[in-house]
Amino acid sequence: MYEALFNNRFTNTFVFYISLLLLLLISPFLFAWELFDIVRTCLRCKENMSGKVVLITGASSGLGELMAYEYAKLGAYLAIIATRKPESRLEQVANKARELGSPDVLFMFADVSKIEECHMFVDNTIRHFGRLDHLVCNAGIGPLYSINNDLTKFAPIIDINFWGSVYTTHFAIPHLMKTKGKIIVNASAAGLLNPPGGGLYNASKGALINFFETLRYEVSPMITITILTLGFIETDFITVKYSNNGVGPHLRNDLRDVLPTMGAEACTKAIIDGVRKGVTSITEPRFFKTVVLVKLFFPQLHYLFFNSFSPLVQN
Ligand SMILES: NC(=O)c1ccc[n+]([C@@H]2O[C@H](COP(=O)([O-])OP(=O)(O)OC[C@H]3O[C@@H](n4cnc5c(N)ncnc54)[C@H](OP(=O)(O)O)[C@@H]3O)[C@@H](O)[C@H]2O)c1
Repeated sequence: MYEALFNNRFTNTFVFYISLLLLLLISPFLFAWELFDIVRTCLRCKENMSGKVVLITGASSGLGELMAYEYAKLGAYLAIIATRKPESRLEQVANKARELGSPDVLFMFADVSKIEECHMFVDNTIRHFGRLDHLVCNAGIGPLYSINNDLTKFAPIIDINFWGSVYTTHFAIPHLMKTKGKIIVNASAAGLLNPPGGGLYNASKGALINFFETLRYEVSPMITITILTLGFIETDFITVKYSNNGVGPHLRNDLRDVLPTMGAEACTKAIIDGVRKGVTSITEPRFFKTVVLVKLFFPQLHYLFFNSFSPLVQN
């Protein structure tokens, strides 16, 4: 019906500017709607987690570990996952979570990039606890490779960061449907902002965002999905461990004190608070939302900034 309109160069451009103008005209109403939604969310009751069952992947350190402690303080049962490594702290995390108030913690060593292992830990969780209320897809790695790097190093980033969350979700969905549960996906602001140096990491997180934004339509209203698009959070991911062994996204040393990083505990508390209120998208530190808007409305400025300033160093 509109083919002729869009085939013509002039009318095609004209339609674009008219729709942009209309959007600007109604933007005060859209803004008011957003504000109303924010206020409504703030007033919403928080979910009582006592006696609920939470499965967290990548819980041996960082945000996964801290989320386990937050859920434990709320009295939730926990199933926590990480890969089997001699130095893995998973058992210690389980013990501390019990001390903090979790009635029972099941810890399992598994690699989320392996389908059968995801099947195994979801099944074991159900066999042990009989139900599943929250699934936290958090496990992730973040090496930053240039396109000239050894090709065999590329696949694990997508296998763990993207497929690991998709496989786990696939096996968990029937159980989450029964409890009207929640899925929390730890993507990254990098999946929206494309900072230079991390093409594959950004792609894995961008794919996660797109997949789970689409999955919402399939599982709503039975399952609520919360997508986390975090900026720089003070975990080993950006600080000590990876910066020392050269595996993760190095933050440039000279910028470490000026970059807007957020404490991991404050971030985790904000995440769990939001999740319990049924928020569907969480960005921390919040200021990163503005950067996303800059990219959307002023792509040239966004390009200029990252082209002259890269906070990350490639492996
Ligand atoms: N920190 C940040 O600034 C930031 C920003 C945006 C997004 N994120 C995302 O937040 C998530 C957690 O990162 P973090 O900062 O907490 O870093 P972290 O401390 O390195 O946590 C990563 C977790 O994932 C686990 N893991 C890695 N590969 C796995 C695999 N194949 N199977 C199962 N578990 C695996 C790790 O445990 P093992 O090594 O013991 O298996 C570890 O528990 C990641 O997805 C990351 O992309 C972090």
